[in-house]
Amino acid sequence: MSKPKVFVTRVIPDKGLELVRDFCEVDLWQEELPPSRAALMERVQGIDGILALLTDKIDGEVMDAAGKQLKVISNHAVGFDNIDVQAATARNIPVGNTPDVLTDATADFAFALMMAAGRRIPEADRYVRAGKWKTWGPMLLLGTEMKGATLGLVGFGRIGKAVARRASSFDMHVIYYDPTERESSSEFNATRVDFETLLKESDFISLHTPLTADTHHMINSEALSKMKSSAVLINTSRGPVVDLAALYDALKEHRIFAAGLDVTEPEPLPPDSPLLTLDNVVLAPHIASASQATRDKMAWMAAKNLIAGLKGERLPNCVNPSVYQ
Ligand code: DGY
Repeated sequence: MSKPKVFVTRVIPDKGLELVRDFCEVDLWQEELPPSRAALMERVQGIDGILALLTDKIDGEVMDAAGKQLKVISNHAVGFDNIDVQAATARNIPVGNTPDVLTDATADFAFALMMAAGRRIPEADRYVRAGKWKTWGPMLLLGTEMKGATLGLVGFGRIGKAVARRASSFDMHVIYYDPTERESSSEFNATRVDFETLLKESDFISLHTPLTADTHHMINSEALSKMKSSAVLINTSRGPVVDLAALYDALKEHRIFAAGLDVTEPEPLPPDSPLLTLDNVVLAPHIASASQATRDKMAWMAAKNLIAGLKGERLPNCVNPSVYQ
């Protein structure tokens, strides 16, 4: 019997790729950069499944270019704003994602950014390398302490809670605002507050919300104007949650203390982005989940979702379960 045909849009860890290869005939995109729109439209034709990354826009047009036999879309990410889930549901195509396995790696990274931005570690590194360090200085590179600080979490799902758990061992006071209006939770002594209170009271603000129409540019000039001048803003969610032009102004004018961004709009930042000129922002190339162990698990999980969909079985992690009703 012939194997189902799948398009895998980038090289992923062997833990997942080997599983996919065992079960499918694989067309693997080998380049470092994602397939262009034209290449994607061409390569999906006639496939039974697609294993996509967050850099691939999978909309109704791509699904139609694939054809009616397309059985499953598996995203190698927990976030799935790159996929038009409504269009997939309308075509009865299940969409899979990779929740849970990246929670701790992402929470670790959010914490690392809090400390790096709050204690100015990359700036200190640049200072030493530039030969500027002359002596120990009582006023040299002063930063923000974690102990006793208020951490405001925007989003109190899996990753937000994992950050709260870490914060409790640093003796931080945790408040949260949840844009998705999940049920209230007092885990890790966190207190639910409204958005305005969170902005006004937090020393650190860390974003852990999906990108939706409601959260797009949620951190804009108005929100930034309500933050403390000592506040540190961290984003490991999705770039467009923060209006970067407004953030640049706030950082440049020292209306907030610092920011740590793993995600930006666009990705990557253009080489002439004014943010790159600032010392009080720490930047990373969307790597919060990038530990070997976590990426192995994400690849494995994405492969499992793909294969289940090809077999006509329920995806272990499906974001549009209504396709099964
Ligand atoms: C995700 O999975 O959504 C992250 O942004 C990348 O790991």
